[in-house]
Amino acid sequence: MSPAAAPGGAKGPGEGGKVPRHVAIIMDGNGRWAKQRGLPRVAGHRAGAEAVRRALQAAADHGVEALTLHAFSSENWRRSEEEISDLTALMRFYLERELKTLEKERVRLKLIGDYSAFGAELVERLEKAVERTADNTRLTLVIALNYGSRTEIAAAARRLAVKAVAAEIDPATIGETELSAELQTRDLPELDLLIRTSGEVRLSNFLLWQAAYAELLFLEVLWPNFDEQAFAGALETFAARDRRFGGR
Ligand code: IPE
Ligand code: IPE
Ligand code: MG
Repeated sequence: MSPAAAPGGAKGPGEGGKVPRHVAIIMDGNGRWAKQRGLPRVAGHRAGAEAVRRALQAAADHGVEALTLHAFSSENWRRSEEEISDLTALMRFYLERELKTLEKERVRLKLIGDYSAFGAELVERLEKAVERTADNTRLTLVIALNYGSRTEIAAAARRLAVKAVAAEIDPATIGETELSAELQTRDLPELDLLIRTSGEVRLSNFLLWQAAYAELLFLEVLWPNFDEQAFAGALETFAARDRRFGGR
């Protein structure tokens, strides 16, 4: 990676400070990429993991502060046992291989979703990586694992209800800020840009609350083909958008 750019600074296509602080990506299309080549789906996931490395590098180079990647949804358990076990094995492999890179490049790893579902061994590795990178400040890489947005919002509401019952908070004071503070994304900047690859035009239960005022970008490119140019292009599109937030 090249030297750090100032967060939200004037480097890259967003000259003038229009670099999104927080970018999220629904990395879709691995299966179709493999199918196009007559390969098994796992080959698509492997190629997708290489695209993750490129996206991480591009985000750091452009001065993005947080990059959230959807790696496994709470609905992805509907896939075959074989595919789930391939995905788990790949996560283990890349975690081991890339931990040094995260440390070297000063990237903080953060997890969202109920990743405990992936078993004690992977959980231990994941948590070790989170701990080892906790003090890094150049970029926060957020990986969504067994993540579902409705589940996240329901859990936040449940925690607020528990606090209210315990008389720790007055229900009348519960507002957007209080609910946001219970979400797993509580320590991240507002989501600015949400990208989905592979031509599907839906959110698939990803960051529903957080995307309230994000710019949405649906790209035809299949995730394994997503590269530095595609990332730069997405930031250019973002910089050209007129974000009005209800104003005129
Ligand atoms: C995204 O690619 C990766 C995961 C959901 C883990 P897909 O596996 O959904 O690829 P397509 O949609 O079948 O092409
Ligand atoms: C969304 O992709 C989840 C991830 C990219 C991890 P899916 O391929 O699972 O979504 P649907 O099934 O097309 O909605
Ligand atoms: Mg898909």
